[in-house]
Amino acid sequence: MSTNRWVLVTGASSGIGSDFARVFAREGYSLLITARSRDRLDALAQELRREHSALVRVFPCDLSLSGAAKALVRALEEEQIEVEVLVNNAGVGLLGPFVELDAEKQSEMIHLNVLALTELTRLLAPAMVRRGSGGILNIGSTAAFQPGPLMAVYFATKAYVLSFSAALQEELSATGVTVTCLCPGPVDTPFLATARAADAKLTRWRKPMKSLIVAEEGYQALQRGATCRVTGRLNRWMAFSTRFAPLRVAAKVAKNLLQP
Ligand SMILES: NC(=O)c1ccc[n+]([C@@H]2O[C@H](COP(=O)([O-])OP(=O)(O)OC[C@H]3O[C@@H](n4cnc5c(N)ncnc54)[C@H](OP(=O)(O)O)[C@@H]3O)[C@@H](O)[C@H]2O)c1
Repeated sequence: MSTNRWVLVTGASSGIGSDFARVFAREGYSLLITARSRDRLDALAQELRREHSALVRVFPCDLSLSGAAKALVRALEEEQIEVEVLVNNAGVGLLGPFVELDAEKQSEMIHLNVLALTELTRLLAPAMVRRGSGGILNIGSTAAFQPGPLMAVYFATKAYVLSFSAALQEELSATGVTVTCLCPGPVDTPFLATARAADAKLTRWRKPMKSLIVAEEGYQALQRGATCRVTGRLNRWMAFSTRFAPLRVAAKVAKNLLQP
């Protein structure tokens, strides 16, 4: 059995996930990094070995496919790797009217953002509970706090991530395992372009945060065992203020901010 402190970071080939890998490597963790792009994972692994002398293993996989989470965990078990921290970061978004967006892409989004995150948690949390220690960091979004017309499915997946994480944090409160949901607002990563949201008012309105700052905040929140951390003061204020708005009003405001 390995004596390393292993962290599994999904979506590590880019953006916030790559920066999570950098932060955990700097803090002395051994890294299990996964995403679809093997070349970018290999390049990151080389960087982490060079810059932080980190032990890094690369597991390319498409987590939007049925059975992928199970296969990934099986591969870790075959190598007798015990995951101390799970960072469920991989996620995609898609902007556009619900009835016009590609239905298959919407299903893949739900599979990746919701199902893979849930399955990985279900597969890895029991061993953490048995050991009496461990941490799960789920990447939600400020999208979790209100409905998101024009990004209806994405916002709903993030509402799931927040609700699921907070519920599990309470269920596991006496076990030594913590569950933290990190909720960033817009972040400067390829996500916004991939989601076709780069021209949304919300994105143009103010400068997206740097992904390294977001990853640092996530790491600190995990260390504190926080239930939820919204990054950035303005984002925290906006997330809080949605509590006082009727759902219909919150949806109208979000729709306005998602338009060009
Ligand atoms: N950027 C923002 O404004 C923002 C705001 C709030 C929340 N978030 C959340 O932050 C998380 C990270 O996003 P990011 O901003 O860092 O975006 P990003 O740079 O586009 O990174 C997304 C990561 O997910 C991986 N991924 C995508 N589809 C996948 C699949 N089918 N299977 C496995 N991995 C897959 C990508 O790698 P491959 O393409 O190599 O598979 C990539 O590593 C997401 O959950 C996102 O919802 C982002």
